[in-house]
Amino acid sequence: MRAHAYAKVNLGLRVGTRRADGYHPLHGLFQSIDWRDVVQLEVAEEDTAETATGGDELPEGWANLAWRAAAAVRDRSGSGRAMRLRLAKEIPVAAGLGGGSADAAAALGLAGRMFAMAPSEVQQLAATIGSDVPFCLQGGLALVEGRGDLVHPRPLAGGYALGVVVPPVELATPAVFARWDELGEPRGSEISGAALPPLLRDEGPLGNDLFAAATDLSPELDDWRSELATRWGRPVLMSGSGPSLYAFFLDRAEAGEAVAGAPAGARAARPVEPVPRGWAALPDDDAGE
Ligand code: C5P
Repeated sequence: MRAHAYAKVNLGLRVGTRRADGYHPLHGLFQSIDWRDVVQLEVAEEDTAETATGGDELPEGWANLAWRAAAAVRDRSGSGRAMRLRLAKEIPVAAGLGGGSADAAAALGLAGRMFAMAPSEVQQLAATIGSDVPFCLQGGLALVEGRGDLVHPRPLAGGYALGVVVPPVELATPAVFARWDELGEPRGSEISGAALPPLLRDEGPLGNDLFAAATDLSPELDDWRSELATRWGRPVLMSGSGPSLYAFFLDRAEAGEAVAGAPAGARAARPVEPVPRGWAALPDDDAGE
């Protein structure tokens, strides 16, 4: 069985003072986007974790988030059945697009079916895998609070596209949060509601508190932001702990033109649109991809 696992962007990310457990309380607006990986999970002779590019080990091997997610469902179900997990990666890693969490959410969903676990029980496992996994299991548009474990779905606000550019920088989430503490909890600058797509206006103003910490670790990130803002003639936001940058456009065609005009040297760049879910099982007979 296979599933699409969708990336996310943080349309807004407010961060609060670090808690005693080391996590930061969040107040974020998360949106799933149509940049996706394909996750496959099958019954097998022996446990296997591989990428779709020909039997290579998964990034981080058995510690891979998606493997841990599938194994957590199997352990909870009490089954000893061997399984094969295969990932076809499209979403850039360490980019602030939640690709690893999306794969884990899809793996949870598929393993939930394989081991006949109730969705509510699968949901309880999500936060034990990673802070972004509860959102990715739900997906769409949601207000996310707590350390990421409190997900309040919002009606999907469509009618726009995003141009997403991943600058050639890799940022580790724990390092960005730690730098945010060291810098004295700086607030991100905000985009006013009036500059947002009509259906998102009531959610504004939106900003990302982690931007100053990310640029402190990688100053070239701010050069990318200002260059894109100049070329695109509009505010540019960062997703998650970075480095992905994006701006709002009317539709995919306009976002596609904008992305084509981005500076050379990005790790990846794409026009994307919001999608109403975090993962989607594919029909069994759909053998493509
Ligand atoms: O939950 P997850 O393993 O994805 O989090 C990775 C790291 O990101 C945490 O160890 C912590 O340093 C940081 N984090 C945080 N506050 C959050 C989520 C993540 O400080 N709400």
